[in-house]
Amino acid sequence: MRTVPPAPARLPRVGAGSVAIESPTMFEPYPYGSDVEVLPAYLPVPGMGVIPANSFVIHAEQPVLVDTGPGGLVPHAYETALRAVIDPAELRWLWLTHTDPDHVGGLAWLLEAAPQVRVVTTYLAAGKLSMHVPVPLDRCHFANPGDAVHVGDRKLVAVAPATFDAPETTAIYDTRSTTLFSADMFGALLAAPAVDARDLVRSELEDGLVRWSTIDSPWLHRVDRSQFADELARLHALSPRHVLGSHLPPVTGAIARLIDLLSTVPDAAPFVGPDQSALEAMLAANG
Ligand SMILES: [Fe+2]
Ligand SMILES: [Fe+2]
Repeated sequence: MRTVPPAPARLPRVGAGSVAIESPTMFEPYPYGSDVEVLPAYLPVPGMGVIPANSFVIHAEQPVLVDTGPGGLVPHAYETALRAVIDPAELRWLWLTHTDPDHVGGLAWLLEAAPQVRVVTTYLAAGKLSMHVPVPLDRCHFANPGDAVHVGDRKLVAVAPATFDAPETTAIYDTRSTTLFSADMFGALLAAPAVDARDLVRSELEDGLVRWSTIDSPWLHRVDRSQFADELARLHALSPRHVLGSHLPPVTGAIARLIDLLSTVPDAAPFVGPDQSALEAMLAANG
């Protein structure tokens, strides 16, 4: 018999105290704007804080799920959160931004629970998934950057992100709400979980975004600066009102600021992970 997990905890607003997490944690979904629901998960990053691992439901005429949360959650936590928002059997589309484990945690379960779902993905992503969670090709819908998927009341357009850690990654531009679902782009390491980017201290967002980007896209230090500027200008021209990143609390009305921050990453200090002596110190500190 299956155990039903307790309802996910609610994320506190700023000033309401912060929550500490020690393992991947699913929080209670919450609405953002009129037709999006955020399914927030958070991952602890030892010694560095936390990173959001959001997925989203778009209440389009044909409902869409964007990604399926991280692996490593307690059993059924993702299912409980999603069912609080929508019956998975009503979902028509699952858009997988890419195949990293923080984006496909609930995929195997969802393919069974949502028999109508077509998986919007890419040829490369389908190939990578075939080695751990195969998606039948007749349930796939391939969308390369520039391609649009019609979901009834709007078009969702596949967008090439300016930063990424997997070559199959597509961001998504929702033409109706002018929302950019930015995948790994614009992620930020944070001190604690948060509901909205406006709840973050300015330096936390700025430092956390630059830090995350050096970790997730280390090739930015070798990129041609003018080509990177062109990539950022292309995103700026989209003028999204909202940015819903996989690794950032929701942002409204600040695409220029996010792009300015990203433009500084090639000149930021490269990330070097903790070495063996640091690991031994961590292990000793934990007893
Ligand atoms: Fe990734
Ligand atoms: Fe990610």
